[in-house]
Amino acid sequence: MAAYDGSIGVFDSGVGGISILKGLVRELPHERFVYFGDSANAPYGDKTKEEVQELSRRIVAAMVNNGCKAVVIACNTATSAAAPLLRVTWPQVPIVGVEPALKPATEAPAHDRILVLATRVTLHLDKFQRLARTYGSQSHVISVACSGLADLVETGETDGEAVHAYLERAIGAYRGKVDSVVLGCTHYPFVKKAILDVVGPVPVFDSTQGTARQLHRRLEASGLLAPSDQSGSVIFRSSKNTPEELALYERLYKARL
Ligand code: DGL
Repeated sequence: MAAYDGSIGVFDSGVGGISILKGLVRELPHERFVYFGDSANAPYGDKTKEEVQELSRRIVAAMVNNGCKAVVIACNTATSAAAPLLRVTWPQVPIVGVEPALKPATEAPAHDRILVLATRVTLHLDKFQRLARTYGSQSHVISVACSGLADLVETGETDGEAVHAYLERAIGAYRGKVDSVVLGCTHYPFVKKAILDVVGPVPVFDSTQGTARQLHRRLEASGLLAPSDQSGSVIFRSSKNTPEELALYERLYKARL
């Protein structure tokens, strides 16, 4: 029997995807999840598309070889760069990605000016460009690449001086000037409070719920849902495999978002 038989593999460049994992566990409490954070290679957001594809391919190969029945790419950057390639490589495995929650943001009552925060790679690649074209006619979409912000979250810093100083520099100009914020990187829900301190009290949209519902639908459609008498579980793995790193993963998993 393979190590992760019947589990769902969830991965990100590091700790960010833990924000998605929390929603997956809420939606699917009977499933077994294996979370892999590639913290040794984070951040992905400033790498080339080809580098992100290769890192993602290796992670998914290990998950599938170890018996995962489905995979969640809990990373906007990896979804944008590698989802099509991963789906062609493993057509038999449901592979669910994340995307910036622009659609719900444009459907909200106030949606004239929407601030989208994401990595450089995510904003640059086709997936986001298409989304922005689709929803850009209804709203003014302002996108800001936050290079360096995921690195701060990787250190476990979520509400300290460095995060505030970073955000002030990156998005201080939008204080009081946007109707909502879309978190287009899975690391950013961990700094949501600091983001709102800078831009003001506006609705924030992230990809957690949409991704969880999509995974639920895909498992159901493929007859892969866990039986309701199975108890769910979460295992953390990291390419930066130290006790301190795994303790950070656990801490962020327990954080209130
Ligand atoms: N968490 C990732 C995302 O959603 C990437 C952050 C990074 O490694 O740059 O885009």
